[in-house]
Amino acid sequence: MYSSVKKYLEDHQAQSLEDLKQFLRFESISADSKCREQMKQTAEFVRNRLESAGLKAEIHPTAGHPIVTGQWRKAKDAPTVLIYGHYDVQPPDPLELWTSPPFEPEVREGKIYARGATDDKGQMLTHLLAIEAWLKTAGKLPVNVIFVIEGEEEVGSNNLDLFLAEKKEEYACDVAVVSDTSMYAPDLPAITYGLRGILACEVTLTGPNRDLHSGVFGGAVANPINVLTKMLGSLQDDQGKILIPGFYDDVLELGEDEKKEFSSLPFDEAAFMKDLGINTLQGEAGYSTIERRWARPTFDINGIYGGYSGEGPKTIIPSTATAKITCRLVPNQNAAQLTSAIKSHLESICPTSVTMEFTDFHGCEGIVFDTSGPYFQAASRAIQNAFGTRPVFIREGGSIPVVATFQEIFGVETLLLGWGLNSDNLHSPNEHFHLENFYRGTLASASLWEELVS
Ligand code: BES
Ligand code: MN
Ligand code: MN
Repeated sequence: MYSSVKKYLEDHQAQSLEDLKQFLRFESISADSKCREQMKQTAEFVRNRLESAGLKAEIHPTAGHPIVTGQWRKAKDAPTVLIYGHYDVQPPDPLELWTSPPFEPEVREGKIYARGATDDKGQMLTHLLAIEAWLKTAGKLPVNVIFVIEGEEEVGSNNLDLFLAEKKEEYACDVAVVSDTSMYAPDLPAITYGLRGILACEVTLTGPNRDLHSGVFGGAVANPINVLTKMLGSLQDDQGKILIPGFYDDVLELGEDEKKEFSSLPFDEAAFMKDLGINTLQGEAGYSTIERRWARPTFDINGIYGGYSGEGPKTIIPSTATAKITCRLVPNQNAAQLTSAIKSHLESICPTSVTMEFTDFHGCEGIVFDTSGPYFQAASRAIQNAFGTRPVFIREGGSIPVVATFQEIFGVETLLLGWGLNSDNLHSPNEHFHLENFYRGTLASASLWEELVS
């Protein structure tokens, strides 16, 4: 059957590209409250497109942005696959660095440029198109499918977890499929079997009740930015080790086999640095760059502000200082537990000269799967059929919060089949997606449904 589905997809390539462009024109920025109406319209687009592909589709309002589902469940005695994707995107800033506007998709040199092209609209659409091609050619699918497409991945998926817990019985499934990761290199497809988790929080210190003249008051009153930077500076030693008590207690250490597999992957450190415009790599002592990125926890300040940051000097003692913090977590670390560990530690080192306020934004656990089972092997064959190359098995440093939830609620593994490239500028200006990978990804998806039952 794969060959006739493939033919259908090849005949409809131009239409698939039009679908993608239409999807990319929606300004579905989940973090931006001005986009609420656009988020709704994007959800409606997804619902309508699932419906025209032949699925039973529904929009589910949440406390945040809507979730869209689509179902086709007529394959008796066959496995049920939950396909996940997200229609929300990151903010496009800084706008002036885009060659073409972020929500006016443009094809240049075989790549489509727009916010969300690779993360995740383009990747997600491959599954919808493949399922549609099956239903239009064979009139049926080899497996049962449930699409769950959310609008809050980029802000932590808090409402999706509640939704799935409610639907525990209705959406019971055998395996999940997600295309929201990267290939290992151009022409080297990958199956990702591990993701890091994350915790995101914010700390604000308040000193005097207003900004003060730094000459009149300076030296006699605590400066919240000075205090905050000193506190944060004490959280890591010179070896890159994080000094929050208990931080490493539950870390799942890498085994020798996995270390060997990581080091057998092609990795050009010089090219990696050149691409980033840096001349030294740094990180936790005793670990390789790949190990640091995929399997070690981190502590990062994402932004720090307070006082004056406009043009020229301004002589003040600021009233407040804030830092936004994320930690990447690895399997067996618990996000909620570590968030409280960070909060308690900051409280314990916070001097009485300022008051501290702490906000917990979101968190999720890291995961790692055993790749020897039949689903991973089926995915490997499907990718080989479409790309002509066997995929490598890799881990990834980024996070997709729902993957841990799928394991927790449904007890299932997730096949992370990435058609993107880390050089596609996800979360950056000039985000793009290679059309070749868009088409090959669609073919791999089309092949997967058959391989899962063979
Ligand atoms: N698609 C990414 C995750 C990803 C990044 C996979 C890089 C492969 C390579 C996802 O949309 C993402 O950006 N996740 C956030 C999650 C967070 C906001 C909860 C992340 O990792 O920062
Ligand atoms: Mn994504
Ligand atoms: Mn993302």
